[in-house]
Amino acid sequence: MCTLGLASVSSILAASSCPGLTVSHDGEPVGEFKNVSGIQVYHSYAKGNPNNSNAILYVTDIYGVPLLQNKLLADSIARANYNVIMPDLFNGDAVPVTSSEGPALNLTDWRARHPTAEIDRIIGEIIAYMRNSLGVKRIGAVGYCFGGKYVPRFLSEGKGIDVGFIAHPSSLEAAEIQGIAGPISIAAGELDSAFNATGRRKAEDILTSKNSTYEANLYSGAPHGFGVRVDLNNKRQKYAKEASFFQAITWFNTWL
Ligand SMILES: *[C@@H]1O[C@H](CO)[C@@H](O)[C@H](O)[C@H]1NC(C)=O
Ligand SMILES: *[C@@H]1O[C@H](CO)[C@@H](O)[C@H](O)[C@H]1NC(C)=O
Ligand SMILES: *[C@@H]1O[C@H](CO)[C@@H](O)[C@H](O)[C@H]1NC(C)=O
Ligand SMILES: *[C@@H]1O[C@H](CO)[C@@H](O)[C@H](O)[C@H]1NC(C)=O
Ligand SMILES: *[C@@H]1O[C@H](CO)[C@@H](O)[C@H](O)[C@H]1NC(C)=O
Repeated sequence: MCTLGLASVSSILAASSCPGLTVSHDGEPVGEFKNVSGIQVYHSYAKGNPNNSNAILYVTDIYGVPLLQNKLLADSIARANYNVIMPDLFNGDAVPVTSSEGPALNLTDWRARHPTAEIDRIIGEIIAYMRNSLGVKRIGAVGYCFGGKYVPRFLSEGKGIDVGFIAHPSSLEAAEIQGIAGPISIAAGELDSAFNATGRRKAEDILTSKNSTYEANLYSGAPHGFGVRVDLNNKRQKYAKEASFFQAITWFNTWL
């Protein structure tokens, strides 16, 4: 098992103490899709770790499983020795990335097609699949943007996620943070208006008042979405993506 030292959160140190563990920015995905009772699920396997005592549920952003960076990030987590399960939350209707400015469709309509209750249903089914069919005993979960709302929802008592990591969450509500029952790691971007200084402060105050096991890291120059999609020519953005990846791995290595 390749573990990261506590001092090795930065990508350079982590890469040298843990050879081969890097975030893939390009290349071909190595996982495979399976149909899990009608839900398309991307599986990325930890080589040399058939042990399912723990595994990671990957709750995506609105671009979903079609987005190359989501599959590559799932593969990167698998290289850190966790089997990764990434369901299509949108039944083939993920938002297409058509320009660097963002999605070219009416997000109000799109959100109405994918209400919270339906996303909850899919995540609940996948958690049951992980436990009952794959035999996973402890579930860690990563949630990016859209997915950052759902990891706290299922990290509440008895909902099935044991340890969570979220990056630049959107539509995250105080009650959802209040409900968190397990260790939670948060990656926030200085330039993210969806999780701004007010929202971050509030989240920290709630977690502190609950005596939660948590961390909240802030990355300068990091825009919304930085955990998944960045301008690789922008050194602060590239750093934020890579460091938040190691933040997640270090968290799971310690708490999962
Ligand atoms: C997935 O499985 C369901 C039944 O569980 C089936 O109705 C559906 O056609 C399958 N979809 C694909 C793309 O194979
Ligand atoms: C799987 O991991 C658990 C916890 O580390 C360990 O107790 C168990 O023996 C492992 N099983 C196999 C088949 O390696
Ligand atoms: C998006 O759709 C909603 C509801 O159908 C509508 O009220 C709104 O004007 C649309 N927005 C744009 C930018 O077209
Ligand atoms: C953060 O966003 C909320 C909701 O839009 C707003 O009320 C608040 O003033 C913002 N805080 C900062 C520091 O911009
Ligand atoms: C907070 O949690 C830690 C770890 O579970 C525990 O040791 C400590 O006593 C708790 N503090 C309070 C004030 O409850």
